[in-house]
Amino acid sequence: MTKTRRSAAWYGKLDKDGFIHRSWMKNQGFPDHAFDGRPIIGICNTWSELTPCNSGLRDLAEGVKRGVWEAGGFPVEFPVMSLGETQMKPTAMLFRNLLAMDVEESIRAYGIDGVVLLGGCDKTTPGQLMGAASVDIPAIVVSSGPMLNGKWRGKDIGSGTDVWKFSEAVRAGDMTLADFMNAESGMSRSKGVCMTMGTASTMASLAEAMGMCLPTNAALPAVDARRMALAHLTGKRIVEMVEEDLKPSDILTRAAFENAILANAAVGGSTNAVVHLLALAGRVGVELSLKDIEIGSDVPLLVNCMPSGQYLMEDFCYAGGMPVVLDELSHLLRRAKTVLGGDISAYADGAECFNRDVIHAFDAPLKHAAGLRVLRGNLAPDGAIVKPSAATDRLLEHEAEVYVFENIEDLKANIDRDDLPVTPDTILVLKGCGPKGYPGMPEVGNMPIPRKLVAEGVRDMVRVSDARMSGTAFGTVILHVAPEAQAGGPLALVQTGDRIRVSASEGVLELLVDEAELSKRRAAWQPDPPHYTRGYAKLYVDTVLQADKGADLDFLTGKDTRPVTRESH
Ligand code: FES
Repeated sequence: MTKTRRSAAWYGKLDKDGFIHRSWMKNQGFPDHAFDGRPIIGICNTWSELTPCNSGLRDLAEGVKRGVWEAGGFPVEFPVMSLGETQMKPTAMLFRNLLAMDVEESIRAYGIDGVVLLGGCDKTTPGQLMGAASVDIPAIVVSSGPMLNGKWRGKDIGSGTDVWKFSEAVRAGDMTLADFMNAESGMSRSKGVCMTMGTASTMASLAEAMGMCLPTNAALPAVDARRMALAHLTGKRIVEMVEEDLKPSDILTRAAFENAILANAAVGGSTNAVVHLLALAGRVGVELSLKDIEIGSDVPLLVNCMPSGQYLMEDFCYAGGMPVVLDELSHLLRRAKTVLGGDISAYADGAECFNRDVIHAFDAPLKHAAGLRVLRGNLAPDGAIVKPSAATDRLLEHEAEVYVFENIEDLKANIDRDDLPVTPDTILVLKGCGPKGYPGMPEVGNMPIPRKLVAEGVRDMVRVSDARMSGTAFGTVILHVAPEAQAGGPLALVQTGDRIRVSASEGVLELLVDEAELSKRRAAWQPDPPHYTRGYAKLYVDTVLQADKGADLDFLTGKDTRPVTRESH
């Protein structure tokens, strides 16, 4: 044996327990020397055919194994819950914390010394990072990688972003249903995650900005052979990280989170990054609040990818990917350690931009001051967010009457009514879609434009809710209002005909109703009866934190790095 490792408590013992741990593993054909004290590397895999975005991860796991064996480690792959964003009901976000628990407990319970996190689809990357951070053994990310660009009738089309556009075009009568259906196959042409800068590519980009994966991991297409090579190199590196005892807590420092916030602004990243970063910070004990998201507010938009721009992740990769972005941000980036052991600035070494229309220079950006804005006021005492890069500029300063949908059923039943009393100036409000309310805080905040206005050519309106929206979506959409309506937040008190004032420049979200009237409404308010009364969903509703705290479960914040003491045999 070279060194006592965590795995020695399982496989290094010359007694009955050691016999049992080794012998049962040997039924897979592993030789004696696999148990000679070498680092045992878990490969935590979210592969699933129900998570199509992660369907390439079995192949990548083989690449990781090659690297682990080459570096003198012993790779063992294990499955965890997979979260297929487009397939799960009521919403994959309901299960992010369940995946995080699965990852945490799997890592803790098994005799592994380090872990490679194979994820991709929206909630899988944050869920895996949260779980691994709470055990705090060496960990590194390999992402699925984006799908190839969507192609339809000679044009590039982007996952999600063009679905919303096509859907509105059908409702407006500008696109036939047959054409709409025909575009499906062209949109998803290969394995991989959404190829827009949606939540999956945002989280992969932020994992790179935080130094939790090897450089270039975010943008290499899922089917590019270089991604397999990156998996191989990651397998080699995790063995070294175990030797160096380089843990998530060494990497996920306050500085790393600040770098992620800066990078999120520059790439035009998803609003969902906010809840994921806040939850992850809570796991590693970094003080990060919603206010800190404003660190990125003045950062310009550099990456010209949908939904904030026009290109797709394949173009971003060929233009140079995240190393170029980090190079452009180098004067802003905080010093922070990465999985390579050095500073994040090394990720930009040798970075060269091959297409300035796709990745703009810092001093010639696509849009100035494009980072997420935090809004506060009597409608959102604990904050709300808006993404200016995906919004209509003139609507970011707006005051108008509101039309209220009490819940998602109300929205679906009435949004296409011809007599809906709305104008292009109306502010649409949706309640009951926060963490506790739906539950799970689904991506419904970008509610559809009422059909009668779509027919008039309206494509954006101010929308306010306690929901999230897809990272692929766009519009002047104010999200994550906290506290949510179901928790008794002021959003619950809004009524059709009230007025709301929004000012992104002032960071304000105000309900223009006097306090006496609000007190009357508050006294009469009752929460909805819970939709779920048993199982994980009940646990979630009972313990979930509000959006401004990352929507983690209250008992999962922090970490537990103690050795597992009780024996199973
Ligand atoms: Fe999985 Fe977009 S739905 S990445």
